[in-house]
Amino acid sequence: MSEQRTTATGGMETAFGFRRVNEGEKQDLVNNVFHRVADRYDLMNDLMSAGLHRAWKAAMVDWLSPSKRSGFKSLDVAGGTGDIAFRIVEASNFNAHVTVLDINGSMLGVGRDRAVKRGIDQNLTFVEANAEELPFEDATFDAYTIAFGIRNVPRIDVALAEAYRVLKPGGRFLCLEFSEVSMPVLDKVYDAWSFNAIPRIGQMIAGDADSYQYLVESIRTFPNQQNFADMIHKAGFSRVTWRDYTGGIAALHSGWKI
Ligand SMILES: C[S@@+](CC[C@H](N)C(=O)[O-])C[C@H]1O[C@@H](n2cnc3c(N)ncnc32)[C@H](O)[C@@H]1O
Repeated sequence: MSEQRTTATGGMETAFGFRRVNEGEKQDLVNNVFHRVADRYDLMNDLMSAGLHRAWKAAMVDWLSPSKRSGFKSLDVAGGTGDIAFRIVEASNFNAHVTVLDINGSMLGVGRDRAVKRGIDQNLTFVEANAEELPFEDATFDAYTIAFGIRNVPRIDVALAEAYRVLKPGGRFLCLEFSEVSMPVLDKVYDAWSFNAIPRIGQMIAGDADSYQYLVESIRTFPNQQNFADMIHKAGFSRVTWRDYTGGIAALHSGWKI
């Protein structure tokens, strides 16, 4: 599978699943996917990952270890229905303020409703915008997080440059994303699950196999752990490292703006 993965070199074309499309077209196709799945997104996440996404997200926020002082400002890009932002607010003892940014109003709408139900909406701001063009001043945030979002962005290098720009010096970058599985048996099981079960579950639960086929394919075309670390470093970040979860099904990359 790894020969399908992209590397740090870019071009005007980008991957939409296994198809090559131009960069502008990719964003429209991605937006359609998330408009279609927004209502069922949280349920599907649990079913597709057998609940594992919760453990990976908890590990992300643990590694971030958000400050409990008030005034800590975090930006969660491609924040969707708010999972990471809610966890950061809770881990900060309700002192952090998190801006949830997503290009898709349907996903943000679900997130806003969930935040109100949990009573944490006063710690959150929801912003509809593109990761490639963040509507914030330079050096605004203490932390930048993005979970299962960056592989959907057409120009990853541009999004990384924007992450670097909006972080304060000393700010932390953390990216959780599906990655390359290198364990011999697990890779076969994972392939079978991804290409057979996930689109079928998507059809049954969300009435939409195609969107889930895209999600599976987009995971396989995303750069592997080392190549993505190189991209983060190229964007200016220091001390770039990563941790694999569940044999590399997911990886959490960390970098610092120094
Ligand atoms: C798989 S969801 C992840 C949501 C959430 N972070 C989570 O972990 O549950 C991917 C999100 O990326 C968003 N997205 C895609 N392209 C984007 C872009 N260019 N800028 C900002 N968000 C984008 C989608 O709208 C979608 O909400």
